[in-house]
Amino acid sequence: MAKTINCALLGAGKLGSGFFKIITERHEHILSQTGIDFRIKKILVKNRHFQRASSINMDLITDKPEEISSDPEIKIVIDTMFGIEPAFSLVRQIVQSGKNLISANRSMVAARMHELADLANEMKVFVNIEAAIGGGLPIISILREDLVANRIRSIYGILGGTSNYILSEMTRKKITLQEVLKSTYVRKIGENLSVIDYEGSDSAQKLSILAAATLGIDTNFMEIFSEGIADVTPDDIEHAGMFGYTIKLLAVIKNHDQTIELRVHPTFVRNTHPLAGVSDEYNAFYFQTDLLGNYMLYGKGVGIEPTSSLLIKDLASMGQRLLSNTKRNDYKLSWDERPLLPIGEIEASYYLLFPCLNRPGVIGKITSFLGEHQINIGSAHAEVEDPLSGNIGHVHIFIEKAAEHDVRNAIDALNRMDFISGRIKFFRILED
Ligand SMILES: NC(=O)c1ccc[n+]([C@@H]2O[C@H](COP(=O)([O-])OP(=O)(O)OC[C@H]3O[C@@H](n4cnc5c(N)ncnc54)[C@H](OP(=O)(O)O)[C@@H]3O)[C@@H](O)[C@H]2O)c1
Repeated sequence: MAKTINCALLGAGKLGSGFFKIITERHEHILSQTGIDFRIKKILVKNRHFQRASSINMDLITDKPEEISSDPEIKIVIDTMFGIEPAFSLVRQIVQSGKNLISANRSMVAARMHELADLANEMKVFVNIEAAIGGGLPIISILREDLVANRIRSIYGILGGTSNYILSEMTRKKITLQEVLKSTYVRKIGENLSVIDYEGSDSAQKLSILAAATLGIDTNFMEIFSEGIADVTPDDIEHAGMFGYTIKLLAVIKNHDQTIELRVHPTFVRNTHPLAGVSDEYNAFYFQTDLLGNYMLYGKGVGIEPTSSLLIKDLASMGQRLLSNTKRNDYKLSWDERPLLPIGEIEASYYLLFPCLNRPGVIGKITSFLGEHQINIGSAHAEVEDPLSGNIGHVHIFIEKAAEHDVRNAIDALNRMDFISGRIKFFRILED
């Protein structure tokens, strides 16, 4: 016989109302799959007089959080609110009354991870924050359940569906970021244009949640080195293409013995690598494990439907745990003390672009200068940009493995050389 679990929804905006519509329409399907009759008993909003989507049952709407916290029948709350405060205070108040929490509120989870984990521990409730990473991919469950026997060596993620769509359009049409933004489709796919990862902070928030939930790394996303897509130009994309690479905004976790490496930046990805084929609003996680080898998870990264799919998966697994009295939380509750590796201390492969005056011996000067800085060069190529005047050239250098501070020091010094005619750019390369 079906068991009933009463729930409350926090927020009835774009995600909340979309989730409510889907869970209502698929009630019978979810019941037949899980044996659980999930019922939304209350919906908390800020302004109960707002006109709501027609799918929302207005009888359920309340603007009083106490109606949820004081209702002993409500066991799970699904948080689709926006922002850090007052969302966190509301969530805390409700969880302190013994409710289990599923949250999709990225900025709140990224800013308050430690408090949420402590709260889950103290109240002995389940807290699941997988949907806050965005998109519909069940990355935390896969890492913590399906791959539990594995040690994860590294994770490379394309975590921003809207930003990935923009880079894909720039690559396909050879146009600038600003030109892509004129398309109405960008506005349609994203939550809103604020999720475009100009500086990398959206991916850094998601990365900090992922690192906390799977490895117990307690970090503020502002401590994570991040660069976004703001500085990527059609020329960069063309140069990458000339050498068999695609530019992707990657979020990286590397699990070292004594330290953890977390970073976000546009990256050269070899065209033959599975991540190079992840285009448009798709997300992916590519991870290297010790037992299973390499593994990739791929799917829609933005939107109401993929996020609702994940929220309902979280609801189903939390419901089953509640009914079977399982104690295991979806949140890693012990913290790992390993420090973050500063960006200057990482080791990576690099692509460097030198705009320079087309003088004899320029390549030789650059390569011998890099050599003096203990930087081993994989290959070097020169190209004259304006064949008529023969004036300005580009030198492209690939560095196989170097410490980032050596690369940056060399670039700083080379920037002062009289044959360098513009800003030297560099991209890190995803090692195969
Ligand atoms: N949209 C997506 O595709 C998507 C995907 C993944 C994750 N998310 C995350 O989901 C969250 C919501 O996104 P959204 O696009 O749905 O935002 P939204 O349209 O602005 O909806 C936010 C909802 O929260 C309610 N709310 C805000 N402050 C409140 C308060 N103090 N008390 C009670 N209710 C309050 C609002 O109530 P009123 O309606 O009365 O103002 C509104 O219904 C965000 O954290 C976002 O990062 C969204």
